[in-house]
Amino acid sequence: MTLDDVDEAADYETILVTQYGPALVVTVNRPRALNALARQVVAELLDLTNRLAETLPSADEAEPGEWACRGVIVTGTGEKAFVAGADIREMSGMTPEQAEAYARDMHQVTLNLEALPVPVIAAVNGFALGGGCELAMACDFIYASANAGFGQPEVSLGLVPGFGGSVRLQQRVGVGIARELIMTGRRIDADEALRIGLVNRVFDDQAALLEAARATVGEVAGQAPTAVANAKATLNAVAHRSVADGLEIEAASFRTAFTTEDSRVGRDAFLAKESASFPGR
Ligand code: CAA
Repeated sequence: MTLDDVDEAADYETILVTQYGPALVVTVNRPRALNALARQVVAELLDLTNRLAETLPSADEAEPGEWACRGVIVTGTGEKAFVAGADIREMSGMTPEQAEAYARDMHQVTLNLEALPVPVIAAVNGFALGGGCELAMACDFIYASANAGFGQPEVSLGLVPGFGGSVRLQQRVGVGIARELIMTGRRIDADEALRIGLVNRVFDDQAALLEAARATVGEVAGQAPTAVANAKATLNAVAHRSVADGLEIEAASFRTAFTTEDSRVGRDAFLAKESASFPGR
């Protein structure tokens, strides 16, 4: 399978897949809902990442010429949002079982991105909240535009992070800062994200952000493909030893959140554009 096959086989409605030289740019494309990860987006990301896993060679099995893609860039349409989170409107109608399945599908997307044999760069062009921050953290590293905003606001909806945030935020920024951010639901700007090490670099605007991400893939393309793949696999093996275990626990917690009245009140209040008054049950 080649990258052309990925392109041809895919008939996606909520994501765009474009190749720029050695970089494959994946753009979440639901600007009217600030690129929120509706179930269809998750299904399409799952399909794409499964296809990429089949297409991209592994470090020890590559044939010459198979390394057409040397890096993946994940971004969002528009200048306002990378991804504003899981889709709160859809979650409103979910049973706990459906919520768990939703989380597990997105977990698989994040694990697929981590397993790709090329670097995956999040180009965060605006809000990366909840599931958006979690999608960015599944990438190898994060670049941001100056207007980016990060946070895990799930507790404001009576929920908990469900797409990997409980595991990956602690790994990225350390236990104390991660716990403060998750338990307050506080949003931070790009400079603060840079200061705490969540983001590698901040750019003036979206154009500069995407140009830099593509330049970085170009830089990687000058390195040995198998060595980059090997280095990434090694870094994963060392750093992410307990991710799968953590995700098991998180899936159960996300499911439990859907059994609470607080989560119903939080989601309804958001959709009604009102502030929530939580019953605490
Ligand atoms: N899901 C569904 N729709 C969303 C959304 C989301 N996460 N975020 C924004 N939208 C929709 C809004 O409902 C609105 O739609 P309408 O025009 O039809 O009313 C549209 O996008 C524009 O949003 P706003 O009018 O709210 O824009 P704003 O500029 O006033 O605020 C914002 C921007 C601060 C990002 C705000 O939209 C917001 O707080 N969004 C929700 C962020 C959030 O809580 N994310 C976490 C979700 S839970 C989660 O992700 C769980 C998990 O870990 C899996």
